[in-house]
Amino acid sequence: MRHLLSIESMSRADMETILAATAVVKRQRGRSTSAPLAGKTWALLFAKSSTRTRVSFEVGLRELGANVMFLSAGDIQLGRGEPIKDTARVLGRMVHGAVFRTFAQADVEEFARYSNIPTINALTDEEHPCQILTDIYTFQEKQGSIRGKIVTFVGDGACNVPASWVFAAAKLGFELRIAAPKPFQPPLSLLERAGFTHVHAQPSPTGEIIQGTVPSSGGRILLTADLKAAATRADLLYTDVWVSMGKEAEAAERIKVLGGYQINAELVKLAKPHAQVMHCLPAYRGKEIDEETFEAHAGTIFDQAENRLHTQKAIIAWLVAEGVTAGTVK
Ligand code: CP
Ligand code: NVA
Repeated sequence: MRHLLSIESMSRADMETILAATAVVKRQRGRSTSAPLAGKTWALLFAKSSTRTRVSFEVGLRELGANVMFLSAGDIQLGRGEPIKDTARVLGRMVHGAVFRTFAQADVEEFARYSNIPTINALTDEEHPCQILTDIYTFQEKQGSIRGKIVTFVGDGACNVPASWVFAAAKLGFELRIAAPKPFQPPLSLLERAGFTHVHAQPSPTGEIIQGTVPSSGGRILLTADLKAAATRADLLYTDVWVSMGKEAEAAERIKVLGGYQINAELVKLAKPHAQVMHCLPAYRGKEIDEETFEAHAGTIFDQAENRLHTQKAIIAWLVAEGVTAGTVK
């Protein structure tokens, strides 16, 4: 049984299969009458808010022929304390697949273990794998292979989205730079889990610079508080909210400490001339990105949002069609 639970647990080959299938799925949208999930029902189980993930999964599953049931975690017994493993066993007897957005990564993994149906992580506190597969697809659509390229993440480098980027850099062999104040850099344990070796710290006038490599893939990581150095010659500037879902109580402190870690015109000038600017959305103008830069790069940012649909259809096809050649499910 296949699941899509994290970038950490994926192989490079599986990522490349899904990325290649996404191009086919996108091209063939609306041109196929095949409904590979006809007669199947998938559940979308969400314990956090969502616009893009919810809509793109609902539309994608319907286009593949499935019936879709949206379950807000607060509206079912899960919200009153019924264990994940019991919820999983009930849903597993009734539906054919599940998309789960929640807090703890361990809960999605437990759901997958007990439900015995294909399960997709639609965001946890630790990872957002569907987002990062989509972002890499969106990058490669314009700039070709991401291997050897420079991706600079600006802002809260210790949340789910940059963590998935760390695992992706290690597997696909690109350079990931995270520009964040020290408390918002990912922990060294995450770099080690991702397979970065030779992790070492160098002193610099703006604080320590941490670097590591994955010799087998060519992946590189750089953690720094020096925003300008991190953005210099980047192929992609990327940001996410400063206050992730579940961190609302820390909002004032985060806004203070992360102040200035913003993608704006001055920063974009340091990147390569063709560099893309991406945001997983929702965006908070004046915080992680300014209005002018957001609008100047809205074409890419909303391609990114649209590509969630195509990438996730490719993910579902990959999950349910073991043995079927990538890209044949439309
Ligand atoms: N980027 C993303 O996952 O958006 P939603 O929270 O709206 O689903
Ligand atoms: N880091 C953000 C991503 C939103 C898509 C959050 O977890 O809220």
